[in-house]
Amino acid sequence: MASCSFHSLLFFSSVMIIFHMIFIIPTQAKTSFLPRSIVLPISKHTSGAIQYLTSIKRRTPLVPVRLTLDLGGTFLWVDCEKDYVSLTYKPAHCGSAQVSLARSKSCFECYSPPRPGCYNNTCDLMSYNSVLGFAGNFNQVGQDAISLHSTNRSNPTKLISIPNLLFVCSHVFLLSKLATGVKGIVGLGRTKIGHPFQIAYAFSFHRKFVVCLPTSRRL
Ligand SMILES: *[C@@H]1O[C@H](CO)[C@@H](O)[C@H](O)[C@H]1NC(C)=O
Ligand SMILES: *[C@@H]1O[C@H](CO)[C@@H](O)[C@H](O)[C@H]1NC(C)=O
Repeated sequence: MASCSFHSLLFFSSVMIIFHMIFIIPTQAKTSFLPRSIVLPISKHTSGAIQYLTSIKRRTPLVPVRLTLDLGGTFLWVDCEKDYVSLTYKPAHCGSAQVSLARSKSCFECYSPPRPGCYNNTCDLMSYNSVLGFAGNFNQVGQDAISLHSTNRSNPTKLISIPNLLFVCSHVFLLSKLATGVKGIVGLGRTKIGHPFQIAYAFSFHRKFVVCLPTSRRL
């Protein structure tokens, strides 16, 4: 099992069993290199409400995005209103496979100029800020690239990509009470668009992950 001795890590561990799906997930890993497990760093934020943070490289070109972890959160949501620039963002259109996977029942139109988070005939989900205790609507389901470090179980190694991870494009006001520089919340809950599920599918992992929360503040 994963060792958590040297710092706090989150693993999605490796394939022992081929993971059979009874539905179609649009997410597929781009690379032919299949990692045995992947790892994300976790730090503890202690001023204000205690939060555990991670950083994930997203978009094209890649930028590191700081996120608050929510163990029960249903998906990844990020603020797309402020400075979201990416060549690989794709909105999930109503009636698409992505929409049924996300279980969105509502379709919306957007009356501002088109940008990530604002396209017509797209589906939406409520995003929940668990620190604030508040949910916002008109959050577009979309897809974008993400890069993660694989690991040899003691050190992070090669960076690997998923070109079209499903997430939700939310609003800047929903970042309230999150740590400085945080752009959203990554949900580790048991839904088909939760991070563990999507990552497990992309790399054919068994659906298993470990979280080691740090006691002190470091990354
Ligand atoms: C969406 O459709 C409406 C009505 O046709 C239009 O006014 C608006 O500009 C469109 N929005 C986008 C983001 O294309
Ligand atoms: C993992 O990689 C690090 C750095 O390259 C190396 O020092 C370490 O021995 C490796 N561990 C294993 C278990 O292969």
